[in-house]
Amino acid sequence: MLSCDKTTMKTYYKDNKDAIRAHLDRPIVLIGLMGAGKSRIGRMLAEALDLPFCDSDDEVEKAAGMSIPDIFECYGESAFRDGEKKVIRRLIEDGIQVIATGGGAIMSSETAALIKDRALSVWIRADIPVILERTARTDKRPLLRVDNPEAVLRALAEKRYPVYAKADITVDSGNGEAEDVLNRALKGLADYLSRAEAERSKDEH
Ligand code: S3P
Repeated sequence: MLSCDKTTMKTYYKDNKDAIRAHLDRPIVLIGLMGAGKSRIGRMLAEALDLPFCDSDDEVEKAAGMSIPDIFECYGESAFRDGEKKVIRRLIEDGIQVIATGGGAIMSSETAALIKDRALSVWIRADIPVILERTARTDKRPLLRVDNPEAVLRALAEKRYPVYAKADITVDSGNGEAEDVLNRALKGLADYLSRAEAERSKDEH
């Protein structure tokens, strides 16, 4: 268990931050179901690593000049998916930063391939009851404006989890402190990048 003592936390941050920043050559892309905490953790991760942060949902809304529920209502989900695909391509091409994606983004095979080739993917995994509780607090997700959001979330989980599971790193978000999730993400990234670096130098010798 990590200590919450501020000095320990800072050292822990710093060690992982240095290890990550030394080897990071691609954007970090957060994937996972709605309400798993991608935006919150993404923002914290970006701050801890001194990197810019971007949220693909926000960027789609900016580009369209309307909210996601309005895009769904006026133009339909497929128009939203087209916009989402273009926005994510642009964000990945923008260079090293932390990108939180909408939960369905990686279901596009084109986006999935782009993320695999050009980014480091992190699955923020949360339990359905936690997600249900969080998503019930807002009305901004058109796919959950139904009588039984739990059934929708469970169906999405069944379809998407095998795709999310291909992420480079998986971080359990649980129901605890965001700070703990952040630390698990930093540790996961540092370990992944050190392993990749060790393999690269082994191949070179
Ligand atoms: C969606 C997730 C949402 C948003 C849209 C569709 C999905 O983003 O892109 O409502 O298909 O799972 P968040 O995962 O950020 O809530």
